Parts: sequence; structure tokens; C-alpha cells
Amino acid sequence: MPCVPLVAGNWKMNKTVAEAEQLIQALLPRVASLDGVEIAICPPFTALRAMIDSAFGSRVAVFAQNMHEADHGAFTGEISVPMLRDVGVSGVIIGHSERRAYFGETDERLASKLPVALDAGLQPILCVGESESQRLAGETESLLRRQLEAAFANVEPERYADVAIAYEPIWAIGTGRVATLEQAQEACAFARSVLAESSEEAERTRILYGGSVTAENAAELLALPDVDGALVGGASLSAESFAAICAGALL
Ligand code: PGA
Repeated sequence: MPCVPLVAGNWKMNKTVAEAEQLIQALLPRVASLDGVEIAICPPFTALRAMIDSAFGSRVAVFAQNMHEADHGAFTGEISVPMLRDVGVSGVIIGHSERRAYFGETDERLASKLPVALDAGLQPILCVGESESQRLAGETESLLRRQLEAAFANVEPERYADVAIAYEPIWAIGTGRVATLEQAQEACAFARSVLAESSEEAERTRILYGGSVTAENAAELLALPDVDGALVGGASLSAESFAAICAGALL
């Protein structure tokens, strides 16, 4: 693992402010001594401010789950990067497969989001990954190449290391069917090789694995040569499991 690993918890559409407060208060002491791993939580928009206040001075960063590429304007229901910066958010998930599948996010759209996040100093986590039918049809690599090339179309080669990629096979998300170590390593190495065609910085781009990561399987996934962290959904809703996953990055 060439860089400091990043473990991010994607809370999705879960947790009221009071529930989020309980979760972070249980999490902070459990991760306080985990030097050597970067930890982020991605609460829903409504809990961002409270989590930023609660995480202040801790080793937990607060990321958003989505952003709009325009600074402001007539985009009902959307949140801009200046708004995220304003509340103290330090990173953002871009192109999660649920956003792509349920909210029509396209590769082109993501291509405009990535440079906006980078220019604002947010740490983007760009999600890529194939469906089960694409994997069965042998299309995993062509799909990953298409998603990565499209999303990075407007990113300067010297900035590649500022983006984190999350390889998340859709069939592994929320299903309990984690990718095998071989599948995870192969896809993450392939993603890195695609980026390396355009930038020497790709060696330092953090590539996370996501999809049914648990306290039990995290350490071996995180030990894979091309896996530099994890994007965790369900297991990030428990302070015990999420802290154990973060600790797994150090083994
Ligand atoms: P999961 O979700 O850990 O619940 O599979 C991962 C994700 O969607 O990022």
C-alpha cells in the first residue's frame, strides 16, 4: 500500500441528527488512536453540520455523499460545493452506483463534478464498478475503463493522486456477497493501470474497495497490494464494526 489508507463510511439515507450524534460519540473514542489511517464519515446532508462540530479536533473527517457542479442556481433539491465548504465538509462521494442507477447520474455529469470538487479542495471519492450481468458477460474491464476515462476527462494528470477511486462491484453492495480477494485485487490493479496510461501520479491514487466490507473481511481486503482503503456502507452504521474496519487498515 503506497499511501496512507482511507476508510470512509457511507451512511447513505440513514440517521437523524440525534442518531448521528450517538453514532459519532461511540465512534470517536474507538478510532482515536488509529494513527496511519485516514477516516471519513459521509452522513446525510442534514447531519453534516452537527457531525463537523462533533468531529472537530478528532481524526474523523466529514464528507458529503453527493454535490452539484454549479456554484448556485435554479437546481431544486441540490447542494453546491461552496455550500459544502461553508459547513466545513472536506470531501465528497461522486458517482455512487445508487446515484447512477436511481438518479440518472451519467459519466458526463461526473466529468464536470470531479474538477469542481478538486478546485474547491474537497477530497473526491469517485465510485466505479460493474453490475453482475456485466461481470458475467466479461465486460468488467471495458466498463471500468469507460467510467474512469469519462470521469477523468477534465482532470489534469498532476491531480490524479488527489482523487480517490472506490471500486464497488454493484453485485457486492449491500448484499453480503463480498468480492473475492482475487476479484478485488484484479479490478483495483486494472483501474490503476488505466489511470497510469494518462498520469504518473496514478501510483499514488488511492483505490478503495467497497461492497459488503465487514469487520471480518476488511483486513485481508485492505492488505491487497492495489487496495488503499475501503468505502463501507452497512457496516459503517455500527461504531464497533466501522472502528474494527479502520483498524484493519493498519494490520
Ligand atoms: P455496503 O455498501 O458496504 O453496505 O455493501 C457499500 C457502498 O455502497 O458504498
